[in-house]
Amino acid sequence: MDHFSYHQGRLMAEQVSVAELADRYGTPCYIYSRATIERHWRAFDRAVGDHPHLICYAVKANSNLAILNLLARMGSGFDIVSGGELARVLEAGGDPAKVVFSGVGKSADEMRQALSAGIHCFNVESEPELERLNEVAKELGLMAPVSLRINPDVDAGTHPYISTGLKQNKFGIPMARAEAAFEMARQLPHIDIKGVDCHIGSQLTTLPPFLAALERLLALIDRLEQRGIQIQHLDVGGGLGVNYGDENPPHPDQYAAALLKQLKGRALTLIFEPGRAIMANAGLLVTRVEYLKQGEDRDFAVVDAAMNDLLRPSLYSAWQAIIAVTPRQGTPRPYDVVGPVCETGDFLGKDRSLVLEPGDLLAVRSAGAYGFAMASNYNSRPRIAEIMADGDQAQLIRERETINQLWQGEHLLP
Ligand code: LLP
Repeated sequence: MDHFSYHQGRLMAEQVSVAELADRYGTPCYIYSRATIERHWRAFDRAVGDHPHLICYAVKANSNLAILNLLARMGSGFDIVSGGELARVLEAGGDPAKVVFSGVGKSADEMRQALSAGIHCFNVESEPELERLNEVAKELGLMAPVSLRINPDVDAGTHPYISTGLKQNKFGIPMARAEAAFEMARQLPHIDIKGVDCHIGSQLTTLPPFLAALERLLALIDRLEQRGIQIQHLDVGGGLGVNYGDENPPHPDQYAAALLKQLKGRALTLIFEPGRAIMANAGLLVTRVEYLKQGEDRDFAVVDAAMNDLLRPSLYSAWQAIIAVTPRQGTPRPYDVVGPVCETGDFLGKDRSLVLEPGDLLAVRSAGAYGFAMASNYNSRPRIAEIMADGDQAQLIRERETINQLWQGEHLLP
């Protein structure tokens, strides 16, 4: 559930009118709802109940400092994938002792940064990474807390670009080498084995792939224990899907209950890395119709937001609902909602039934995750403003970039 709804014919973000925010801050802009973010995080946290656990929000979904700070205030941990994300978490007041560091390509510098900060765990994805981490920890005279990310070869049944747990994907250590990799970790003097982790993909809308992965990891943990390798935590990654349209994914309660049932009272601490499930439906992309353009084959609503602001439709053919901020009476017509960027792939939605006039405001729903975070300056478009609705108030949490910022750091030849 989210806190965007119509009141007297106007779309509201909590108790604030979206149209008023668009007038105040300009379009395009992202608008988030604080109550929705908090509700989603708590839903996860409560779902796991008394079982020892840590919810590590996946920073890549949306890394705005205000959002990280809200989550940190609730006691959230963070799943990071770069030194930049670690710096953001620390800047936002996040607790480094609740940070897990994922990713296949950690540099030695990033390892140093994370070891010095005292993070909870490195989710190591390969044997060479394990060796490098051991070297860096030795250099600093520290022990590196480590979990090995195992690729369980499970089909997540999601878009191929966001499926990560198949053997042809670059992620994790193949199950066939898992025990050998743990033996190697045990031999390395600056590596401290803490856990096992996996992440099989994103936007999963059914439980069986999660449960299949869990079954394989629990069997591995048993085999490791027989070898005398104690595992303290199991990190099940992120991936729980959301409703963009009619997907109907499991609620965190159902997800957690199914996992806990399979754990059967084991003392393993559970770590979750949800990104989308917390942020997607806590954000809107608000855009204004510049032109209504008749094509030979179809009509276009040319809006002021584009693929550089929200890449998901172009990159994954993702469908996100597009609704009028102040709906009009009339007979809906089908429009392709497209942006000003010079690419055929620049669209936010196709064949959407809308009643529109030029100047109208539209809201692309479910845009809080992987929206701003994937934005670019393509076509020299400044990145857009981000606003947080909070009850009957709203705050600008990121200013719209200025034109001058577009070439900041660029230099002419002498
Ligand atoms: N943990 C790891 C190791 C991950 O790679 C990811 C996402 C997550 C957690 C969070 O997954 P979530 O709970 O958000 O599904 N840009 C794509 C999604 C890419 C996800 C990449 N990894 C999209 O817009 O659909």
